[in-house]
Amino acid sequence: MADARDFETKVSERFGLSGRSFIITGGGRGMGFGLTRAIAQQGGNVAVLDLLDQPEAEFHDLAKKYNVKAVYKRADVTDQESLETAFKEVVAELPNVNGLVTAAGIVIDKPVWEHGWAESKKLSDVNILGTLWPVRLLADHIVHHNKGAGGSIVMIASVAAHGVKVPFQNIAMYAMSKAAVKGLAGPMAGELGPYNIRINTVSPGPTVTPMTDMLRARDPKYYEVFKTVPFIYGMATPEADIAPAVVYLLSDASKWVTGVDIPITGGSHAGISTELLQKGTDSL
Ligand SMILES: NC(=O)c1ccc[n+]([C@@H]2O[C@H](COP(=O)([O-])OP(=O)(O)OC[C@H]3O[C@@H](n4cnc5c(N)ncnc54)[C@H](O)[C@@H]3O)[C@@H](O)[C@H]2O)c1
Repeated sequence: MADARDFETKVSERFGLSGRSFIITGGGRGMGFGLTRAIAQQGGNVAVLDLLDQPEAEFHDLAKKYNVKAVYKRADVTDQESLETAFKEVVAELPNVNGLVTAAGIVIDKPVWEHGWAESKKLSDVNILGTLWPVRLLADHIVHHNKGAGGSIVMIASVAAHGVKVPFQNIAMYAMSKAAVKGLAGPMAGELGPYNIRINTVSPGPTVTPMTDMLRARDPKYYEVFKTVPFIYGMATPEADIAPAVVYLLSDASKWVTGVDIPITGGSHAGISTELLQKGTDSL
């Protein structure tokens, strides 16, 4: 670690992302957009790859507001041609692309034996291979075209990868897909370490986004349960709770951190609250 004796640089400065460019898959809305905004706030250029025709309207203000470059590419992370084309355009348009956040993801919430074959395949295509391929593309770009630059990759896993069954949720297959994402970080960190590319996961607990809004629209109890399920009651927001950890992992503040997972779950990766265990789920 070159600056182990650098006592002068302020800790806050180590979290800066200026002069670097970051690709965010699934950054068109929800968690991915919250992370995109946070990266821009820290001075990083952002390139969002998402299926949506248009990102959140606020995306178009980021460049001016934070004096960064911001590009949006419509792309499908499960489609090789679509992903590779968008990736090539981004590295041609932005300088020093050496960071990636994989936030594109989908959820199925119903008993696993009700999952259809096609939707099961789609879930693994988006959540597993749709994470692996962008990681491979960025690693390949750094190793072959941006040698010496190093880089940092953050994959969005989930509390579901930690094996806790939450009342009212039936997300076993989603959990399997997110466990695959979490499981990728360690071995991949070993392969990418020699190129100074770090790779880590963040496992959010329930977070207010269009994905969870959709689950609540189906069952109003969905948001209610999190008032008492985690050890620290409530739900996360992308900006306040998830983004700081992602910025940490992308920045030099974490330059010796690789192959780890940061669960941001109010404790729910470790179990459900004692109060709820005592009262029983009928109390919800
Ligand atoms: N919201 C939560 O409670 C929560 C908790 C843990 C983990 N996560 C994970 O966080 C990530 C973001 O979730 P969110 O809650 O913001 O969901 P969301 O549905 O609000 O946003 C997901 C984004 O991914 C994009 N996307 C989906 N399929 C895609 C594809 N094939 N190619 C490109 N883009 C695609 C969507 O267009 C959307 O913009 C997901 O990986 C999700 O599994 C969410």
